[in-house]
This record gives sequence, structure tokens and C-alpha cells, in this order.
Amino acid sequence: MIKETLAEIDILVRSRYSILYLVTHEENRLEDLLGDLAQKQNKTLYSWTATQGIVKYSTTGKNQDQFQDPSVALNHVMEYKDPAIFLFKDFHVFLEDPHVIRRLRDAVAHLAGTYKTILISAPTLNLPAELEKSISIVDIPLPDEDELHELLLTMAQSVMKTNSDVVDIKKSEARELARAAQGLTLSEAENAFSKAIVSNRKLNADDIKLVFQEKQQVIRKSGTLEFYPSDGSLSDVGGLNQLKMWLNIRKKAFAPEAKEFGIPAPKGVLLLGAPGCGKSFTAKVIGNVWKMPLLRLDFGSIFSGLVGSSEENMRQALRTAESVAPVILWIDEIEKGLSGASSGSHDSGTSTRVFGTFLTWMQEKKSQVFVIATANQIDKLPPELLRRGRFDEIFFLDLPTPDARDEIFKVHLKKKKVKSDDWDLRKIITMSEGFSGAEIEHSVTEALHFAFFENESVSIKHLEMAIKKIVPLSVTYKEPLDNLRSWAQNRARYAHIQPKSSNTRSSDRKIEI
Ligand SMILES: Nc1ncnc2c1ncn2[C@@H]1O[C@H](COP(=O)(O)OP(=O)(O)O)[C@@H](O)[C@H]1O
Ligand SMILES: [Mg+2]
Repeated sequence: MIKETLAEIDILVRSRYSILYLVTHEENRLEDLLGDLAQKQNKTLYSWTATQGIVKYSTTGKNQDQFQDPSVALNHVMEYKDPAIFLFKDFHVFLEDPHVIRRLRDAVAHLAGTYKTILISAPTLNLPAELEKSISIVDIPLPDEDELHELLLTMAQSVMKTNSDVVDIKKSEARELARAAQGLTLSEAENAFSKAIVSNRKLNADDIKLVFQEKQQVIRKSGTLEFYPSDGSLSDVGGLNQLKMWLNIRKKAFAPEAKEFGIPAPKGVLLLGAPGCGKSFTAKVIGNVWKMPLLRLDFGSIFSGLVGSSEENMRQALRTAESVAPVILWIDEIEKGLSGASSGSHDSGTSTRVFGTFLTWMQEKKSQVFVIATANQIDKLPPELLRRGRFDEIFFLDLPTPDARDEIFKVHLKKKKVKSDDWDLRKIITMSEGFSGAEIEHSVTEALHFAFFENESVSIKHLEMAIKKIVPLSVTYKEPLDNLRSWAQNRARYAHIQPKSSNTRSSDRKIEI
């Protein structure tokens, strides 16, 4: 990965592009990589920082204080005679200054025919409109497995020089550790490996856990992603027989044999439906069912980020998710984050671009990141999202049918440890027509309150009382639900189909395929 990126930079510099914008958090790693590149091209590499001015690469000390000012430094670049590469570190913060912008535009024209190149490095992409057309952007990828492997071996060797019994790492284990460290920057990986050596004076596959802990830290710092603790099983979800079956079939697609069989990595699923029908609930259990980590992506925080542009936040989040693959990426109520993308609201430009980044990623992604997105409203979703090739499947979760209500009641009665095996639920199921799963859960809780208040054990009577007090979603949410239903009719798969033979006592029937 990094080799390809460097080859790209090499070509751009050789073809005399004036200014490149390199997005990375790792300026030291970048500087070293550029040092090699400059040498290959017989050019001198200079680095500029706001505190040190311009300093020749690999020499220390010798500050050239007069070049600390960004405009003055740019002038110096233009006056400089010999072939050279100038790396301007953290220059994004100066790109709001009209003088600097003007100087850069001058530099674009001036450098075009010369063997000099300006490289801007910054952790986020922040390019003013005036410069968009004349500066090329290159994303510097995080270190890949090979680079991390090399780092690990170098570290192991240097420790062994002083203390030969400390580090003894098998080839296969070194590879595994390097793979586990993907998603960390080079210096974060270095820290993780050092910790691993110090912790048990060894470096082996046992240290993978430690590396993963380090990665959790990184994810926590990102602010847009969080590891979501996933528990429960699909039997906790009542109804949704088609969705559950589909998920069981997809699960196998992550096995290495599946790839050999010709099965592409699953992309993901969109769960669409009325509130309280089990969309988020299903997402929450699936991590545990598939034994994969569940990462929740907060679309809102992508837009409200204090640092960095929304687009960059999105790219970063997706990159991080890929680095911990195989993983499930859960985006709850996706329409909330996208509200600007389809309507003409004032920030629709940003939303559309951020959303475009996401869509392209969905379309092209080869990594084992399974997206599970949920949505309550269809009219807020841009049509591109629903096109084939983005999600593997779109499921519509309607209000539960009688057999599904039967299952949901049983799930929640069992959860509350109510002894109800011999209850005849037929009346309850009829009475709860139009209830969502959440309302069924709520009525069970209410029944508990009534019984507790009357000092009795819970019975059907309490459940009936509770149900009578609840106005069902089919009434309170009628219009949006009708809209959803008519949209979903030909465009989505039904998450649940009540088998034809089923009556309300459905507990012992099988799911039909
Ligand atoms: N099919 C279901 N089976 C069991 N419980 C359900 C079901 N649907 C909803 N619930 C209950 O209702 C709660 C809210 O459902 P949730 O999945 O958050 O709704 P939404 O579809 O709006 O995301 C869940 O935590 C769960 O307890
Ligand atoms: Mg939800």
C-alpha cells in the first residue's frame, strides 16, 4: 500500500507538479520516506515548521530563523536555485491566511517549470477553494503489514543485541503480531510492541491482546467510532424469520473457504422500518452471534467534529474500521446523519460530499467490514444508497404479525422470569394488534408493575390491563408507516413472513425457506 503511494508521489514530483497535499498524522514517518525518495531523485529534502523555519533533512540544529514566517519561507522556495523538495509540516493551519493562499498560488505558477516541489503535510484535509484545482491530494496510508513486520523485526533485533533471551519470536507469530497492529501509526505500533516486550519479557502471539488494547485506545480517541459490547442471541429476537435466516447464511461468507468458493466479502444490510421493531436490537446481538467485534459509527459526530473536515472524519473512520476487520460496522438511524444530503438544507454540500465518500467506499470495498445500517424514514434517504451494489440486501421490518407477537411476548416474559409456559396467549395476541416489539416489551413491564402493586404474581389479567392502556404504533405512526409500506412493497425484502399454516400458537412450527 505505502509502496504504491510512494510510487505515485514519485511520479507526481517527476512530472513537475508544483504542490502536493499529503494527508497523514505521521510526519516523521513521512519525512523518512520522502528522504529516500529525494535521494533517489538526486534532490535535497528540506522541512519547514513554524518553529524551526527551513531545515535540511537529516541535519539537526542549524535553524534558519528568518524563514519561520510562512510567506517568507515560500518566497525562499521560489528564489531557491537547485532541485529540491520542500516539506511544509502542519501547513493546513496557515491555509486560512489570504497572504499565504496568494503566495501559494504564485508558487504554483512559478514552480511549474522547475525541479522544485512543495509538499504540504497535515493530519486533516483543509484546502481553500482557491487552491483546490492546483494542488493534488495524496492520502498517506497507515503502515501496512509489511512495514509493521519490518518494524517488529528491527525492534526484536535491537533488544536481542543487549539481552538475547528476552526476545525470541517465531516467524509466524511475528506476522500475526504485525497483522494485529494494522490500524496503528508507526509510533503507536512501536509503543505497543515495546509494551509487549516489557510486559512479559517476550514477544509472541500472546501479545496480540495487548496490541488490540492499544487499538481500542486509538478507536476511542477517534471520537466517531466506539466498540459496542454485543451480547444476546438471535433467539432473543422474536419474529423476523427471514432476516434471521439471511443473517445465518451470510455468516458463513466470512470463512476463508467462502472466498475460495467464489463468494465475495459481504457488504452489509440495511434495516428499514417502523421505530421499535427490532432494528437496533438485531444489530446489537449480531456481533455476539457472529463472534465479531461490533463498531458503532456515530454519523452525527462526523459532522460535529471539532477538528478536521467532515469528509476527512469520514475517511478516517472508514480507514480505522477497515484496520480492525473482520468487523461489523453499525450505523444507527443513518438518515439522521444524512438529512442534508437529499434535502436542500444549508449544509447539503458537506453532507452530500461526506455521503459520497461513504457510498464510494461501500461500492468499492473489498475488506471484511460488514455494514449494518438502520433507518426509520425512507424519504430522508438519498436514492443512491438504495441502489444495487451498495448493500447486499434491504430488509423491511413491519409491525409484527400475530405469530411474531407470540414469539416477542414469550421472549420478554422469559426475560422477566415470568412463569408463563402454560398461558394461552391467543387473546393477548389479538388485543396487541398493531403493537411494535418495543410496545410488547413495554406492556410486559407494565404488567409487572400492576401485579407488584396488587401484591400478586403476574398473570394474563395484568397483561391485558397493560395492553389496554397502550395506544399502538399502528395508530400513532399511521401515515409514515403507510409510506414505508408502499415504498418497501417492491423494493425491499420482508424481514418476517408469517407462514401460511400458522395460527397464533406458533411456537413449535418451523421456519419456511
Ligand atoms: N422483534 C423483537 N423481538 C424482541 N424484542 C424486540 C423486538 N423488536 C423490538 N424489541 C424490543 O424493543 C426494544 C426497542 O427496539 P429497537 O430494536 O431499539 O427498535 P428500532 O427498530 O427502532 O431500532 C428492543 O430493545 C427490544 O427489547
Ligand atoms: Mg433503533
